[in-house]
Amino acid sequence: MEIRTEAVAEDSSSQPSRERRTRRQLLTAGAVTAAGAAGAAGGYVLHAKRPRWRNPAAEAIPEFARHAALIRQRQSSQTLETVASLRRKYQDPVFGKARVWDMIEKLGLCIDPSDDSLMLTSQHLHVQQILEGMERDGVRDRDLLLIALLHDIGKVMMLAGEVPEHVVGYIHPMGEPARGVGLDQVMFQFGHDEFAYSRLKDHVPSHIAWTIRYHSAMTGAIRPFCSPSEQAVLDNYHARFQPYDLARKSYSHLPRVNLAKYRALIEDTFPQPILF
Ligand SMILES: [Fe+2]
Ligand SMILES: [Fe+2]
Repeated sequence: MEIRTEAVAEDSSSQPSRERRTRRQLLTAGAVTAAGAAGAAGGYVLHAKRPRWRNPAAEAIPEFARHAALIRQRQSSQTLETVASLRRKYQDPVFGKARVWDMIEKLGLCIDPSDDSLMLTSQHLHVQQILEGMERDGVRDRDLLLIALLHDIGKVMMLAGEVPEHVVGYIHPMGEPARGVGLDQVMFQFGHDEFAYSRLKDHVPSHIAWTIRYHSAMTGAIRPFCSPSEQAVLDNYHARFQPYDLARKSYSHLPRVNLAKYRALIEDTFPQPILF
């Protein structure tokens, strides 16, 4: 019996040769199996149907982006009532007492479905991408490194079953706040920033807690509403951190950082478990 898998053998796809070989082996194996079932009886020549190469990523990206846009839209249309009820909902601990490092590690289970820069990259890898970027730039500021490690810790809310539009996305001043009023007088969408702030504020210096609370707001968008003391924190921490948070995102870059070093920093900052 002759088995011709010409379509596969002639495949002139631009895939790297190793990958092409693997596909060929798989497809040939499939053709042989089919031939075993059908060809054995008739002894005819099997012409394998020419497989069309479909790039799963090319199909998945627009679908992810569409879904992400929907979540961002729902998040940006939170009302004052929604914000108030979410604040009440998360007043009390959700996870009980936990070591902060353990909560950071839980970010490995968190995917931000609104972020089409990261797509399926975990939030734990996102944090490592930021740390790697800071290391490359020679950032030694302990507080800035702590902000990087802690800023998205609130996304663990998704592991407690919260819908993404109450957790992720950028935040914007709601209503028409007065200039210089101070951000604690301004309402923002509720999300992982506020959740993280509420858990960390009694355990870290106030400028770190403040930066985490407003890290999802654009530096330029909140500057007009900051009080003079907040302006200093904005310049010294928020404005320095945000470029790393935004520009280091990648769905294909695997960062290489020494996590043991950062674990030591977190254990030193939080020697005891805290209420989450
Ligand atoms: Fe964030
Ligand atoms: Fe982030």
